[in-house]
Amino acid sequence: MAPKSRETFGSRMGMLLAMAGSAIGLGNIWRFPYTLGQNGGAAFLLLYVLMLVLICLPVMISEYLLGRRGGSNPFRTFDILAPGTKWRWIGFMAVLSSACILSFYCVVGGWSVKYLADACSGVLMSFDGDYSDLFGSFISNPWKPLFYTLVFLGITGLIIALGVRKGIERMSKLMIKVLFLIIVLVVIRSLTLPGAMEGVRYMFVPDFSKVTADTCIAAMGQAFFSLSIGCGCILTYASYVDKKENIAASSAWIAFFDTTFAIVAGLAIIPAVYAIALMNGVNPNVSAGPGLVFITLPGVFKAMPLGGVAALLFFLALLLAAITSAISLMEVVVAFIIEELRRSRVHAVVTCFLLCGGVGVFCSLSFGPLEGFKLFGLSVFDFFDYITSNIMLPAGGLLLAVFAGWRLKRANYLDELTNSGNLNIPRWLSLTIYYLLKLVAPLAISLIFINCILS
Ligand code: PFF
Repeated sequence: MAPKSRETFGSRMGMLLAMAGSAIGLGNIWRFPYTLGQNGGAAFLLLYVLMLVLICLPVMISEYLLGRRGGSNPFRTFDILAPGTKWRWIGFMAVLSSACILSFYCVVGGWSVKYLADACSGVLMSFDGDYSDLFGSFISNPWKPLFYTLVFLGITGLIIALGVRKGIERMSKLMIKVLFLIIVLVVIRSLTLPGAMEGVRYMFVPDFSKVTADTCIAAMGQAFFSLSIGCGCILTYASYVDKKENIAASSAWIAFFDTTFAIVAGLAIIPAVYAIALMNGVNPNVSAGPGLVFITLPGVFKAMPLGGVAALLFFLALLLAAITSAISLMEVVVAFIIEELRRSRVHAVVTCFLLCGGVGVFCSLSFGPLEGFKLFGLSVFDFFDYITSNIMLPAGGLLLAVFAGWRLKRANYLDELTNSGNLNIPRWLSLTIYYLLKLVAPLAISLIFINCILS
């Protein structure tokens, strides 16, 4: 049995900031700018926004709705809503997806701890050689990145051990505010560099020749990853939410906040990369892949006035964003262990630390001693990144939408969405959301999958 009294968020603001904290993370600052760079800039952005409205928002609303109605961890939620059926295994898959994401997420989290430490000590800005050598020798070292990965996971575990209100809510509230302030400062610095407007143009003028089946799956994967949907995070947080919350409005607010942040993070990075490249008379390289933030940016910071301060602020922002997301991933696994395996919170945190840290070790070593070891042609790190974002999250989202649209009765869906009729949501709007999640989202996700398999 689940414990009788579960913790809840203390305030509406705390809940919104915790969910936004989950959504805003490495996905926005580290993954979004380079995925945008690799997929044709503004054309990708347009596709991304389209996926967001037609697929991700309805899926997010269903995940939120199911979490609040079930009031438990993902596994039990499906058991409560469809007792004795196999649907509970979707819940289990969600828990597994979260654990898999956390396992590679903590490696990049560890890199941000290291870069922040180097920015603070001045090592980063006083480095004279090629930043790709610095990054390469760090991530291929067998021990150093492991140490930082475990430090990052340890910080995440400590916050989770404090509980929903004292840990997740309090930390998210504080960190998100600081994060916004910092990123605005870095954007101002970036946009005031001569030549920065070239980068802005790149972000907002579409090049449709770059759009392929892979671009679609990349945009969908990025949108799922960025919104933290499809793996039980929103569902778990929603189980700590007051019954009076307006689900549709909160979801829309979080999606808007997250997308705005991704664009703002792009504006902090891409124009600066353009400006410095123009200054040095070289081609701007915004499609540098995962190294964009760790290789290209330090060079950019070094070349610009006040770059040391900008670097410090930037890597602090990166770390804060990573922590608020990592805690939401860990909470999914921890809630499952507490409620299904009946362990204490601390016990659950330690188990999760060992489990995800263990897999994280392999992800980290895949840049060094295990470089030659491939799973389906991908390194361990890339394998976890690819299958979680591009397959497990959209598949989880598809099943969640199918459950909410086809298994949950329409009357129950409307009852939950309108808080038993207490919310004045126009009927056309609740029905539009309903049909988006019942028909459009599952169909669109399936088509994108099929298109990618066939291409
Ligand atoms: N949304 C987070 C980011 O953008 O970094 C990553 C993430 C967190 C994905 C939680 C999935 C999740 F459940």
